[in-house]
Amino acid sequence: MYGPEQQRQYYARTKEYLAGAVALPAAEQLPELRSLLRYHEWRYYVQNDPVLSDYDYDRLYKQLEALETEYPELITPDSPTQRVGSDLSGDFESVPHLVPMLSLGNSYNAEDLAEFDRQVKRMLNMEEEVPLAYAVEPKFDGGTIALVYENDRLIRAATRGNGVLGEEITHNARVIRSVPLTAAFSHYGLYRVELRGEVIIRKDRFEELNAERAAAGLTLYANPRNTATGGLRMKSPTEVADRKLEAFMYSFGYGTDEAGNDAVQALGTHTHALDVLTELGFKVPATGYERAAVPDIAAAAAFCTQWETDREAYPYEIDGMVVKVDDLALQERAGYTSHHPRWAIAYKFAARQATTTLLNVEYQVGKIGTITPVAKTEPVALAGVMISSVSLHNEDFIREKDLRLGDKVLLERAGDVIPYIVKPLEDLRDGTEQPIVWPLSCPINQTDEEVLLVRAEGEAAWRCPVCVCGAQNLQRIIFHVSKAAMDIDGMGRRYVEQFYELGWLRTIVDVYRLPYDQIAELEGFGERSAENLRRSVDTAKQNPLWRLLYGLSIHHFGKKATQLVAQHIEHVLDLADWTEEQFLHIKDIGPTVATNVTAYFANPLHLEQLRELEALGVNVRPTDEDRPAAEVTEGPFVGKTILFTGSLQQLSRKEAQERAKAAGARIVSAVSGKLDILVVGEKPGSKLKKATSLGTVRVLTEGEYLELV
Ligand code: IVH
Repeated sequence: MYGPEQQRQYYARTKEYLAGAVALPAAEQLPELRSLLRYHEWRYYVQNDPVLSDYDYDRLYKQLEALETEYPELITPDSPTQRVGSDLSGDFESVPHLVPMLSLGNSYNAEDLAEFDRQVKRMLNMEEEVPLAYAVEPKFDGGTIALVYENDRLIRAATRGNGVLGEEITHNARVIRSVPLTAAFSHYGLYRVELRGEVIIRKDRFEELNAERAAAGLTLYANPRNTATGGLRMKSPTEVADRKLEAFMYSFGYGTDEAGNDAVQALGTHTHALDVLTELGFKVPATGYERAAVPDIAAAAAFCTQWETDREAYPYEIDGMVVKVDDLALQERAGYTSHHPRWAIAYKFAARQATTTLLNVEYQVGKIGTITPVAKTEPVALAGVMISSVSLHNEDFIREKDLRLGDKVLLERAGDVIPYIVKPLEDLRDGTEQPIVWPLSCPINQTDEEVLLVRAEGEAAWRCPVCVCGAQNLQRIIFHVSKAAMDIDGMGRRYVEQFYELGWLRTIVDVYRLPYDQIAELEGFGERSAENLRRSVDTAKQNPLWRLLYGLSIHHFGKKATQLVAQHIEHVLDLADWTEEQFLHIKDIGPTVATNVTAYFANPLHLEQLRELEALGVNVRPTDEDRPAAEVTEGPFVGKTILFTGSLQQLSRKEAQERAKAAGARIVSAVSGKLDILVVGEKPGSKLKKATSLGTVRVLTEGEYLELV
């Protein structure tokens, strides 16, 4: 349908429109925008493989909509704006909705919402300053459903279809457990009702279904949303039931009494209408969690942004929130456009996918010489931040994805905040893309000396084995001062880079002899900050020994291993005499660590550095923190787990715990099958209940406990 050359042109042109770089008369822009949108609809709905994020699609759509609003005489019936999305296929019988099902307008930030609030107030002839109450709830990402109840019975269910006609899917809806087959609407004077809702699938159920399909060798479902919409429209209700779909109801579309008079308005507010649906046994977003009734638009925006942060932890896919005028009478007064209600708006979360161009690959070197390729891309907004650099991890990643310079790539930023390249858009290649040639020698090194990279067997990373340019040292210093290692308060990557540039830092030893008087002179510093920095460095000099060992950046010598080794020496330089054997005698220390640490301490330069560190006052001996707490082998609670609950009267919680430890117990924080003893103070809560129900926990009063210890 669309050839590769045409697709490339469409993509490039789309980007120009999105960048606001098209200056043509409306009469020329309109047909072009329409063809671009049609192309993207085809990629999305037909190919199931969009090259544009939803967010960018919406922006493009809005450009068309705005132009058409300005020039209504240029609207054509085949414009993408002239249809509401349709899922009619002919496989099901078409039925008219009691009231047309419209779409929602979109907003993307608090300002958009504030503008929406102003517009609503204008429609209602309200003063802008008067607060207007809203209801806010998740915008579920599944398939729309309309349920018709008559005389308290479910008589019909339909998909959204084209908004006017839906597909009749009553048999399928009846197997969705959260759709009640009967509901006591008559208690509220309602005889004939059409409810609107969204059919969705839990994310974990989706994963489970796909795992089953993978095991059976079937193709996997693309995403939870398609699994839900596809589920609604299957031929066999038994198969529908197997998907375990759920239906969240979010509004009354229609509701009349026996005489045919409206009986929804009497419910007063949207919030109350949802409370009633909850009462009647429907699955409805829960108050205080999923939905909120808020006094004004600012509070609505705050609720939306909070949800944007929390969305990953939510068990269902949502693509935004919906903000609705809460008062039903005001909704009625605000009315509708042909496309959406004027009293509601979707607050769309920032897209987590975007497409851009891979321009170049740069390389970074880590503290142990690992070379990491980093893609430099054309800047693009992704989930609210501008991205222009994306890690490519290692050579294999580039090969497996067959990435090339000049490729259009799909970026994603999911639960993880770190963006990654999902895939190159191969259809958009024009033959000018260039292979990414993996370097044989260290790409960071600017000196004349060439250093060949090495790749250890079984490892994905290429490393620069001997750093002649100092780049690794910089990374080592950054790690050395970091929270994980020496934890030097106030000295982050930025200062290290600045001091390194100035030539004050060459190795980790220099961290402890910084020229504070010169630092005080630096722009943005001053006496105070220089003094604070000096104090932080001095404090860090007293660190336990494991932090120093960890801060040396010895390959594979991790936190746990440094802590173990620190317990077995009296002075850091003892390790200069240690053999690999000796390391292996320590439980949990393996041969890789043994070899690497021995090699490190065999290097006289390293020993010299450690002597200098000692001379500068850095602690090189184990401290109390390094030595393990003596294991208690005697006492009433040896080997037992203990938990305190309720308020203790004679001891503080801390004292009680200290005594328990001294008596050999291990403190735990929750009641489980592994709990041995529960000590209860006054007003114990659910923990006591749970412990009692387990039947295996020994419950002691504070008095009984004191007697035992
Ligand atoms: S209210 C008159 N509330 O979003 C239209 N819609 O563009 C009022 N959706 O496919 C819609 N969650 O099914 C509303 N809490 C919610 C929603 C919601 C999901 C869907 C709806 C439709 C689309 C509207």
